[in-house]
Amino acid sequence: MDVKELIREAFEARKNAYTPYSKFNVGAALLTKDGRVYRGCNIENSSYGATNCAERTAFFKAVSEGERSFAAIAIVGGYSDGSKIGYAFPCGICRQVMREFTDPTAFKVIVAASEDEYKEYTLEELLPESFGPDNL
Ligand code: THU
Repeated sequence: MDVKELIREAFEARKNAYTPYSKFNVGAALLTKDGRVYRGCNIENSSYGATNCAERTAFFKAVSEGERSFAAIAIVGGYSDGSKIGYAFPCGICRQVMREFTDPTAFKVIVAASEDEYKEYTLEELLPESFGPDNL
């Protein structure tokens, strides 16, 4: 699967975002090393604090299905009215969840505004000097 295809999956995932409060819709597409894709969207809550980000939705769906081996995640975000589309970087909590299940030097985080406009990082670049499973 190429980057453009993974970004397309993230845009599809974004369509299901449940965001009555912020109206900021995020989609994520998580690629396993053997080529499966798990989609996630943000799911807000009237208590606000119970909101789940798109990236964590994708990870928790995948991990709960037994997946443990991940290659990349594509993320797209912006307001439901079409403004501020793209370059929605993962929050700190989501970066830490990625850290739990990936090799930060190899796992790719793709933040996209469109299929053609995207930035690619390793998790290590977005979460340097991190705390992970190997510290315990
Ligand atoms: N959000 C995500 O889904 N992923 C992030 O990494 C950043 C924030 C969501 C949470 C909330 O529903 C909305 O974006 C505004 O913060």
